[in-house]
Amino acid sequence: MKITARAHTNIALIKYWGKRNEQLFLPMNNSISITLDQFYTTTSVTFRDDLKADSFILNGSEMGGQETDKISGFLDLIREKARRNEYAVIDSINNVPTAAGFASSASGFAALAAAATKAIGLNYSGADLSRISRFGSGSACRSIYGGFVEWNKGVRADGTDSFAEQIIDESEWDLSILSVMVESKPKKVLSREGMQRTVKTSAFYSGWLETIDADLNFTREAIQERDFEKLGTVLEHNALKMHATMLGANPPFFYWTGSTLDVMHKVQELRDSGIQAYFTIDAGPNVKVICQPEDERIVKESMQQIQSVRDVFVCHPGPGVSYIGE
Ligand code: PMV
Repeated sequence: MKITARAHTNIALIKYWGKRNEQLFLPMNNSISITLDQFYTTTSVTFRDDLKADSFILNGSEMGGQETDKISGFLDLIREKARRNEYAVIDSINNVPTAAGFASSASGFAALAAAATKAIGLNYSGADLSRISRFGSGSACRSIYGGFVEWNKGVRADGTDSFAEQIIDESEWDLSILSVMVESKPKKVLSREGMQRTVKTSAFYSGWLETIDADLNFTREAIQERDFEKLGTVLEHNALKMHATMLGANPPFFYWTGSTLDVMHKVQELRDSGIQAYFTIDAGPNVKVICQPEDERIVKESMQQIQSVRDVFVCHPGPGVSYIGE
């Protein structure tokens, strides 16, 4: 049976940065994100007994070994749970500007987990889907849910209590999230490797862990109170602290370019002029600027005026994973 699922990307307000267990994808700390309405992946999965290997088609093109191996490794986990051994055809359409440096791994693995588990006959809850998506990409476990989502790191050694939960849904607080795309080259340090190096060597990683609970509490409160200034202040601080851990690693590394700094400066200028806007940055040079819907137009225009900015995409909180064609 062919099953199709759709999942949206998410942007972390409080970052997941560092694993305590590499094999089980167990994070050092909880993280909190917003699922985005504009960027998503739609994936169909069909298990067939006449196939000799998995076949992965992305945006209409058959993918080669490296890409397919990662998907196959993930499907092996699902085959093991279902005690089945058929290979699958995986047909994925990414509505995420991947080439532009936006991570599609979160939406990709959340959609794949939902489609594949159902196609193989497993009856998975949201928590089950979140738990298994983690093995594709940690941040994927947050994309199972819409709106504001927290990934609980869990305390058990086997990882069974490490999955995401919704804080409030996408209709409960509307914010504008502007994805500001800057000029860049492909990144040199992948997030997986960056996390590893940071945990092992950064002079500042202990500071990250010591202050994370306060950031998480502050963020949960700001969400419950719908206090935008409080939320913005803590999310920007948290992103800067994550990037500071990279600067303290050995060898040090960082993802910012001159254009990244141009955007950061512009956001600070906007705040100086009385407009509430805050930035966050993941493991790449692009910046997400968060503001309230009433300021969206002026913030977007200010970003477009920066010479080194290539494009600005506007998102709002979006939905969790869903099945298509049912
Ligand atoms: O899920 P991964 O392995 O792509 O790592 C995501 C890391 C950050 O984007 C930097 C932070 C986060 O919480 O999304």
